[in-house]
Amino acid sequence: MNEQRTAPNEVSRIACIGAGVIGGGWVAHFLARGYRVTAWDPAADAESRLERLVDAAWPALRELGLSDEAARENLTVAPTLEQAVANAQFVQESAPEQLEVKRDLLARIDAATPAGVVISSSTSGYEMTDMQRDCADPSRLVVGHPFNPPYLIPLVEVVGGTSTAAWATRWAAEFFEITGKSVITMDREVPGFVANRLQEALWREALHMVDNGEATVEQIDTAITEGPGLRWPLFGPCMTFHLAGGEGGMAHMLDQFGPSLKSPWTRLDAPELTGELRDAMVRGCEEEAAGRSITELVGDRDRAIISVLRAVGEARKGTE
Ligand SMILES: NC(=O)c1ccc[n+]([C@@H]2O[C@H](COP(=O)([O-])OP(=O)(O)OC[C@H]3O[C@@H](n4cnc5c(N)ncnc54)[C@H](O)[C@@H]3O)[C@@H](O)[C@H]2O)c1
Repeated sequence: MNEQRTAPNEVSRIACIGAGVIGGGWVAHFLARGYRVTAWDPAADAESRLERLVDAAWPALRELGLSDEAARENLTVAPTLEQAVANAQFVQESAPEQLEVKRDLLARIDAATPAGVVISSSTSGYEMTDMQRDCADPSRLVVGHPFNPPYLIPLVEVVGGTSTAAWATRWAAEFFEITGKSVITMDREVPGFVANRLQEALWREALHMVDNGEATVEQIDTAITEGPGLRWPLFGPCMTFHLAGGEGGMAHMLDQFGPSLKSPWTRLDAPELTGELRDAMVRGCEEEAAGRSITELVGDRDRAIISVLRAVGEARKGTE
């Protein structure tokens, strides 16, 4: 155990490197949770942009509930990267998505950040293994991939590279949870991580459909917002299809709709529905259901859809 390491629940000082859409969103999130934040961004107009971003986010954060220590005044913009990270107990990097930029920057951050401090990257798709290559101590570097806006969307995907130490991944996951995030910690690096791969599959199919004149932009958006999108806030795609199998759940769903995997319903090739894959899906749904019967799950889903429909109805009234 490194003696200089701060426990995740004892962190009070955070550095945010890169303060655009995502970096600024992280700044707002951490300020709202009562941390002292030091930001650095090389752009000439970075400070005023960051001010505007935090201004725009603050009413929503106040509405959600600020922590007792939350204060806009806890934000400092440092003149150099080295000054920004000098006293940090956690660093979040959100620079442009270019591999060379990330490599150079993470090496500089690593050189200037106190030993034992975890450094996390917001990258949307690079593997940490590729980004940590030039760092003197790559063991403390992790990916902490947020969703826009990071001050409202809870998900953070945490994954290390081949040189990342297991403690760093665990530390980052625990720290993000303490700040109010919902974390999935991945054992393996996959390009794009989990949520982006899922989004991207849908996005590419949407582009194909527009490109082929099969659907309009509006039809595609309506198909999601008035359709499956309403079910996703409570249950993801797997549990949603568990319920599509009626009393037989995922097992019946796969046995019934398995052959459709060969139909041209998407440009994405389906994997072979082996017995192993079938069992993994059925087992996963049973684990996620945690003892709830199909009838109970249907009740949970229906209540959630009613809440979402009402909330969306209210939100739409505000935009009319
Ligand atoms: N926009 C999204 O929806 C989204 C979602 C999740 C993750 N991300 C990831 O977050 C990161 C930032 O994306 P963004 O959308 O905020 O981009 P952005 O263009 O809004 O912001 C990037 C910021 O980095 C600054 N910058 C430029 N060079 C820099 C350097 N060498 N060091 C530090 N800062 C530098 C820029 O001045 C700018 O303010 C990317 O890795 C991106 O993949 C983006």
